[in-house]
Amino acid sequence: MKKKIAIVGYGGMGSWHVNHALKSDVLELAGIYDIDEEKVIKARSNGIYAYSSLDELINDKSVELVTIAIPNDVHLDTVVRCLEGGKNVICEKPVALSSDDLEKMIEASKKSNKLFTVHQNRRWDVDYLAMQHLANTKEIGKPLRIESRIHGSRGIPSDWRGEKEHGGGMILDWGIHLIDQLLLIYKDETIDTINCTVTNITNKEVDDGFYLTITFKSGAVAFVEVGTYNFIAMPRFYMKAENGSALIKDWREKTQVAKCLHWHESEVIPVQTAAGLTKTMAPRDSVTLKEYELEIPKSDVHDFYRNFVNAIDGKEAQIVTHDQMRLDMKVMECAFKSAELNQTIKFEY
Ligand SMILES: NC(=O)c1ccc[n+]([C@@H]2O[C@H](COP(=O)([O-])OP(=O)(O)OC[C@H]3O[C@@H](n4cnc5c(N)ncnc54)[C@H](O)[C@@H]3O)[C@@H](O)[C@H]2O)c1
Repeated sequence: MKKKIAIVGYGGMGSWHVNHALKSDVLELAGIYDIDEEKVIKARSNGIYAYSSLDELINDKSVELVTIAIPNDVHLDTVVRCLEGGKNVICEKPVALSSDDLEKMIEASKKSNKLFTVHQNRRWDVDYLAMQHLANTKEIGKPLRIESRIHGSRGIPSDWRGEKEHGGGMILDWGIHLIDQLLLIYKDETIDTINCTVTNITNKEVDDGFYLTITFKSGAVAFVEVGTYNFIAMPRFYMKAENGSALIKDWREKTQVAKCLHWHESEVIPVQTAAGLTKTMAPRDSVTLKEYELEIPKSDVHDFYRNFVNAIDGKEAQIVTHDQMRLDMKVMECAFKSAELNQTIKFEY
């Protein structure tokens, strides 16, 4: 039998949840709650029941699960109230603004014996899944460096995302997705240091972009860059591994892989550049390098909801765990500290 879900916040992401929770085929929509009267009118005009208060939603015993899609600074209070009210809770990312707030949420989940997770939907992005596949299969050896980039040119949206008090800025907005992805790809590594610098080109109050380097104890590196003032975008992913390289130019494009077959070459034809010849930088031939494309991995983002519903029924473990949420949060905090102090920070966790 389908479970009933209610959604708090009927803005951009709340509307997405209304559509996509139902597409998962395991849920029925009980209604939404939003503090903005216009959103209430919009919901009703779409035939959706709108609760008049959060208490009314919490007191609706038919609702087993609540998704919270409201600005980042108000996650804590709503998550805790819903958990204490006996609901299983999915919170939008970034789940909290600090590790302390996250611990309060986890504590409320434990006390109420209800499940609590965060909507890390970008774990279903096919570009990320292709990189994860390469890392897991070691098709081109262990990754030595992975660069994950998102470049746009429109600045931060002109809403609460540009304001510090509401948890705005790109580290919290896009950073959390890309950090979460890379920490899963490097799941067997231990973080050594973190270095982060931020940009404030279009917004002085919060970061409108950043460069983050996570160095692991093994020497492997995860690099994350988000830019909102990039009129030509750099490739989405680049991997340098023990036995080759991989590149994904854009979100849904296939991965280009170059696998080194033999290190030594019998003959290297130099490349003519404007200033002279180079053998060092000359391309390899097909005897020593195999170039191919990876098929785009299969992915269905609705598996997020299917998993959570199965987790409520005790049939499987929730995909996004509390420990993963904790690590993501600690890395973001360390990135903020590094940017503020203009220093590389030893990571402690
Ligand atoms: N996972 C993703 O891909 C993704 C994408 C976009 C946004 N988000 C996250 O979703 C959350 C919401 O972002 P958005 O883009 O939908 O913002 P939004 O501004 O479009 O919508 C937020 C809605 O919340 C309502 N609201 C504010 N405070 C409330 C409260 N206390 N109780 C009830 N309603 C309240 C507002 O009236 C508004 O309708 C944020 O945490 C954001 O980071 C996630």
